[in-house]
Parts: sequence; structure tokens; C-alpha cells
Amino acid sequence: MNISYHKIAQFAKTKLFVGFLASLSLASCTEDPNSPGIEYMPDMYRSEGYEAYLKKFDIDSTDFFDRNLDKLGFKEAADSIKPELVKEVEELYAVFNGGLITRKPVNGTIAEGKKPFTIPKGDRSQAKAIKMPIPYSETSLTEGKAYYEIFCDHCHGAKGDGKGALVVKELFLKPPAYNGPAKDLTAGEIYYTVYYGKGMMGPHASQIVEDKRWKIVQYVQTLQGNKVEDLMGINASDTLTVNSAQ
Ligand code: HEC
Repeated sequence: MNISYHKIAQFAKTKLFVGFLASLSLASCTEDPNSPGIEYMPDMYRSEGYEAYLKKFDIDSTDFFDRNLDKLGFKEAADSIKPELVKEVEELYAVFNGGLITRKPVNGTIAEGKKPFTIPKGDRSQAKAIKMPIPYSETSLTEGKAYYEIFCDHCHGAKGDGKGALVVKELFLKPPAYNGPAKDLTAGEIYYTVYYGKGMMGPHASQIVEDKRWKIVQYVQTLQGNKVEDLMGINASDTLTVNSAQ
């Protein structure tokens, strides 16, 4: 007797619970077919995050003001604070003028800790004199080798002899061997070539940050036939003569 009472109670509870769920899901429906209904934490479905450099809105659209005033609850707001809300939207308009999410840096600004690469493209002779700005070390060379293997090896070959996989497969022109025709290139010239590219070789400035470019240069210098001990003996210039904005 006890047991069946218990079962009935449980059955009723389950029914109630299912009923509750059903009414909850029905309650989230609305007449408007475009409405997503009631949502629990809508931010989790639609991110408020902005995509950099995308146009978030058409700044010229007349509803920019309406939309943003609506968001601030303009209609329901007391008359006394309405001018404040309008001012707020005007400020937003000024900030997003043009509609871009991320602002472009003001002309002539340089990111903190960076200096632009001052040698213009084409002025290779000036590059010849640039000194290695970072100290030679085992760690730099190891890192340089790793980056060389990622960015240069497939054309220049592991030994720098110009017989990279792409060249062997005749998919690319053979670059000069580092310990051959490119033997006398200075650190500055190698850097310049990495930065701007040369002939068929594309520029690598946008793929590799400055510090790593120099580490690659150090490794290329070993492939030119320079002994590691000799390189270690070279004092890196204590001033960063070249530094790039990338
Ligand atoms: C897609 C193939 C390719 C890749 C990748 C490549 N190079 Fe080159 N590189 C070449 C070719 C081809 C030349 C010959 C260019 C010429 O003289 O017209 C060359 C030339 C050079 C030279 C000699 C140019 C001079 O100044 O006389 C250096 C140094 C050099 N590359 C370094 C690098 C380094 C370092 C990397 C990696 C960061 C790299 N290259 C990546 C194909 C490539």
C-alpha cells in the first residue's frame, strides 16, 4: 500500500515536471516568426564583440541615431535627461565616424617600443652597413635555425645551398647558395632581403617579427660558412639601429 502510494506520487511529480517544461518551452514562443523568443542570456548566442576593421554599421544610415537612442531607453527616459542621451549618441557617432570598429593609427604614430625600418626599398647599399642589433648566442642561433626551417628551408635548402624541396621539384627558381654567390652578403644585406624580398623571393617582413628576422640572419651567417665561435666574437651593436614597425 505504501509502495503504490509512493509510485503514484512519483508519477504525478514526473507529469508535473514534464508539464512545467512544456509550458516553459511554449512560453518562449512569440507571434513574431523572426523573434528568437525568450532567451536565457542572449549574449551567449549573439556575441556583442566587434570584429576588428569591419564596418560595424553604415554610419550614414539614418537609423544610427534611432537605434542607439533606443538602446539607451530614450523613449521611456524623462525629458530632463533626453539631451544627455542625445549627446552620448553624438559622441558615439564621432568615435565611429566612418563605421570602422578599430580605429586606424593616426598618421605618423609609431607603436610603443618600435621604430620604423628606416632604409627605404631600393636603397640596398645603405643596408650593407647595418650591424647585427641583437647579441649572437647559442639560443639565438637555435631559434634562428627553427625559424629558418619554417620560412626559408623549402627554397634555400637545409644547408643553404639553394636546393630546397621546391627547387628540387622544379617548382621554384634556384636561389644562390649562401656559401657560394651569397657568401659575402653582410648581416644587414641579408636582413634587407628578408624584409623586402628580392626578385622571385617575396618579402617576409609581415610574417616574421623583427627580433626573429635577425635570429634567422644569424643562422644564415653560419650557413655562409662563418664559424659559430667567430660570430659569437662579434659584438652586437648596442643601439638598435634598425627596428621595424612590424
Ligand atoms: C619561395 C622561395 C624562397 C623563400 C621562401 C625564401 N627565399 Fe630567399 N631567395 C629565393 C630566390 C629565388 C632568391 C634569388 C633572388 C634573386 O637574386 O633574384 C633568393 C635570395 C635570397 C638571398 C640572397 C639575396 C641577395 O641579397 O643577394 C638571401 C640572403 C635570402 N634569399 C634569404 C632568405 C631567407 C633568410 C629566407 C627565409 C626567411 C628566404 N630567403 C626565403 C627564394 C626564396
